[in-house]
Amino acid sequence: MANEINTRQLIREAIAAMQYSYSPYSHFRVGAALLTKGGKIYRGCNIENAAYGPTNCAERTAFFKAVSEGELDFDAICIVGGKDGILEEYAPPCGVCRQVMMEFCNPETFKIILATDEVHYTEYTLGELLPLGFGPGNLK
Ligand code: THU
Repeated sequence: MANEINTRQLIREAIAAMQYSYSPYSHFRVGAALLTKGGKIYRGCNIENAAYGPTNCAERTAFFKAVSEGELDFDAICIVGGKDGILEEYAPPCGVCRQVMMEFCNPETFKIILATDEVHYTEYTLGELLPLGFGPGNLK
């Protein structure tokens, strides 16, 4: 992946994913687009809950959709988010989502793209956002 066209497409998908954000409590709308090594894209949005605790982040929605359909190999995720869906700042993944990524992704190579539009984005590896992460390898 990592060419400009794929990045732009992934950003478009993340922005599209945000349309279904269910966020009546925070009004913070998040969209994610998860790219598999096979080239498929899984979209996710945040899904809030009146009891607050059961809220699911956009990134985990995308991962759980993909894993529940048999996908285990991932290249990158793009995340967008903002109050009322206004994309002014990058929306970095929460710690729980970073840990879920650690379960399925290589921290050296998995890319996390944060964007506000198709031309304004920044890229990190999972290892940069979760240094010394605890993953499946630690239990071997
Ligand atoms: N949220 C995400 O969807 N992803 C993150 O990584 C950070 C937070 C959502 C959860 C909640 O619905 C709203 O943003 C405010 O925290």
